[in-house]
Amino acid sequence: MTAPLRRSEAIVVDVALGERAYDIVIGRDALTSLGARIAALRPGARTAIVTDRNVAKYWLEKTEAALHQAGIAACRIVVDEGEGSKTYAGLERVSEALIAARIERNDLVIALGGGVVGDLAGFAAAILRRGVDFIQVPTSLLAQVDSSVGGKTGINSPQGKNLLGAFHQPVLVIADTAVLDTLPPRQFRAGYAEVAKYGVLGDEAFFAWLEANHAEVFKGGAAREHAIATSCRAKAAIVARDERETGDRALLNLGHTFGHALEAATGFSDRLFHGEGVAVGMVLAAQFSAALGMIAESDAARVERHLAEVGLPTHLQDIAGFAQEGLADADALLALMAQDKKVRRGRLTFILLRAVGRAVIAADVAPAQVRDFLQAKLAARA
Ligand code: GLY
Repeated sequence: MTAPLRRSEAIVVDVALGERAYDIVIGRDALTSLGARIAALRPGARTAIVTDRNVAKYWLEKTEAALHQAGIAACRIVVDEGEGSKTYAGLERVSEALIAARIERNDLVIALGGGVVGDLAGFAAAILRRGVDFIQVPTSLLAQVDSSVGGKTGINSPQGKNLLGAFHQPVLVIADTAVLDTLPPRQFRAGYAEVAKYGVLGDEAFFAWLEANHAEVFKGGAAREHAIATSCRAKAAIVARDERETGDRALLNLGHTFGHALEAATGFSDRLFHGEGVAVGMVLAAQFSAALGMIAESDAARVERHLAEVGLPTHLQDIAGFAQEGLADADALLALMAQDKKVRRGRLTFILLRAVGRAVIAADVAPAQVRDFLQAKLAARA
């Protein structure tokens, strides 16, 4: 698999969902086309841009300029950055601001930001006047390759992450790769875990391409756009065949059953970004698959080697404050997994590997098997 050496035009990926189909536009400076695209898609619409303070510093004026150039009215709703905004209180703030701005059924909400802003603004749009359309303008790598695509929106409950939400597809996604230039390296790396995930779960050739070209992806340019477009195509294909996660869409949760438990154990704090939890979770899922005899140890080692090479954490012990309560204790981690949405009648659902590039849904994993595996991992590196 090769990426084009240079690319001046945006790449457009179609999410084929019938009457809810939409384009993902990927490219450097794609944001400048936002106004013209809205004018074509929804003539006469007014817009409200929901963003956070940090993204606003860098990208709000450019977004407003793109809208004004096309004669589109826009108001701004700026929330605090971080998961603290993905709450009942944050939802109330955004919803009341949208109502005060008189955003109506034919208007558009624009989510300008990372996963938190996309989930929050998308959920507010889903419930405002029983549903207003929205556009995703993702500004983190993780949002560009995962959370902005597929229509999952929501907020956290004090009892767990993403426990309140709705499937509400955007009408357009604009992934401007230039906005990634201002991302801190650790954030970019965390997003890269989700890029690698698409290779591990369904495309060995893409994983091999990443192994050979990851440095170029981190540098930027055509390789980065190729990686983002390949990830979006993979996600779009899965979402098109299983929008509501009754089957195959669960494959996108590779690394997430372990990862969410680790995020919960670290208090959803900066000690472990979501993508870092997915990286450790993906390695654990590969090693668990090997322990169950589904793949060779060398396959699990290959996944671990690549993620470690780009600087992602790959072991429980790599997580800051590992020895603190919750992380060094297999039973505590299991209890956290039982709180996740991936549990049914006491059995856990894991996404496991039959090969690098072929993930499967294992919907009936006994907690004791997971406990034994985790205890062995913890003892091996103690
Ligand atoms: N992030 C997983 C999904 O969208 O289904």
